[in-house]
Amino acid sequence: MIVVTGATGSIGRALVALLPPGEVAAVTREPAGLGGPYVPGDLERPESIGAHLSPGDRLFLNSSLWPGVVDAHRAVVDLAREAGVAQVVTVSVRHARPGGRLGQDPHGRIDEHLRASGLPHAILRPGGFMQNLPGEVRDGRIHGSYGAAKVSYIDARDIAAAAAALLTAPVGPSATYTLTGPEAHTHDEIAAAVTAAIGRPVTYVDLPVPAMAAHLAAQGVPQGAATEVATMMREMETEDWASVTSAVEDLTGRPPRPLTAFLSEHAHAFGA
Ligand SMILES: NC(=O)c1ccc[n+]([C@@H]2O[C@H](COP(=O)([O-])OP(=O)(O)OC[C@H]3O[C@@H](n4cnc5c(N)ncnc54)[C@H](OP(=O)(O)O)[C@@H]3O)[C@@H](O)[C@H]2O)c1
Repeated sequence: MIVVTGATGSIGRALVALLPPGEVAAVTREPAGLGGPYVPGDLERPESIGAHLSPGDRLFLNSSLWPGVVDAHRAVVDLAREAGVAQVVTVSVRHARPGGRLGQDPHGRIDEHLRASGLPHAILRPGGFMQNLPGEVRDGRIHGSYGAAKVSYIDARDIAAAAAALLTAPVGPSATYTLTGPEAHTHDEIAAAVTAAIGRPVTYVDLPVPAMAAHLAAQGVPQGAATEVATMMREMETEDWASVTSAVEDLTGRPPRPLTAFLSEHAHAFGA
């Protein structure tokens, strides 16, 4: 059995659709949101995930982030080892490391625990998701502190495809994969591509970090997190979020989806 946590998420939903139906246990707290067969489970009660794990199973371990995520994911890794799970495939983030910014810290700590567990594993480290982009356009503008930094956004469905390839092939050597889209763009280029896809003008507005933090705080992001997000945007000028890897194609046999394809498929998501 392939046990998929985060099954209603942007990666999990696409992953479940790619796996052989009779071999999947899709874990969710919200079955109404899945619209298909599911098993109940809540990562805040790790034993509710452990109850679905049997010797030889494969586990896709992923969820959104919340303050208890590190303890929860580590506990599920321990339960997977005790159950004799054959492989854990997990979603982390590019440059994950203990002490890193935002999600990099919890992911870095979870990844360290998984590596130390002795379980066969694959750690997927994507950069930013193309699926974030519709939510970043407001009143024809994208605000950020990226400057001229390029980012190789990835379509979350390509992360799902990489996970599906790993979970259905014989278990290979444990590895960490940096997953990217096929090319990197500045946010000026992204705004131009959105403009072309939706037929309405969209511009990128670059703000100094304090102004961007204030912009996010005005939208309800807590002040500390707003400053972290804006600072991380600015650091993309020096930390590598631009380089492109061949990992998606190596794992799936086909190149990742380009930004233009995502935008033409999702033009409706950018609202009126
Ligand atoms: N967005 C980005 O640009 C980006 C970039 C790099 C890495 N990442 C990483 O990608 C991951 C998120 O993936 P995603 O976008 O597919 O997730 P998502 O769409 O945010 O989905 C979140 C899933 O997490 C599940 N979940 C949340 N709390 C849970 C709990 N207590 N117990 C069980 N399930 C729980 C939800 O399941 P139910 O509600 O159905 O139970 C939901 O299906 C995060 O680790 C994030 O750090 C994101």
